[in-house]
Amino acid sequence: MTSKVLDAINQQIANEFGSSFSYLGMAAWCEHHNFVGAGQWFRLQSAEEHTHAMRLFNFVLARNHQARLAAIERPAGDFASLLEVFENAQAQEQSVSRQIDALYQLAFEEKVFAAMAELQWFITEQVEEEKSVREIVAKLRMVKDDPSSILDIDRELGARRPAAPAAE
Ligand code: FEO
Repeated sequence: MTSKVLDAINQQIANEFGSSFSYLGMAAWCEHHNFVGAGQWFRLQSAEEHTHAMRLFNFVLARNHQARLAAIERPAGDFASLLEVFENAQAQEQSVSRQIDALYQLAFEEKVFAAMAELQWFITEQVEEEKSVREIVAKLRMVKDDPSSILDIDRELGARRPAAPAAE
């Protein structure tokens, strides 16, 4: 592992924890505004992001380096609507995808093949995550301000169950 790649992975650990923290803030907004299903969805998403951070944390340690934790930003806590919450989630996933791509490119340039193999999993995961949040945003845009349709979507979101734990 080169120091550049190590620093960048440590930063990505913070980014994933930041993502987890941000989703927890979205869960709080949703539940407080009586979108209990969306709250459940975001709680699970927050937990998933925690596992992403831990996956990289474990990788750094397995490569015989000390994982270094960095500060994470205070997440947004106020939103105008359920749609706005999911638009924020979508922007966040797009941003994480760009971070993972940049990290993969760095690992490639530095010829850190073990990191490239590890990051493959994240690239695949981001495709799924962007897809699922994009579909939710599309549905919310479709129903506009119709309360009963929004409540149907909320109920559907509440059916989400925890993913099988990612192999680490
Ligand atoms: Fe771990 Fe959805 O980024």
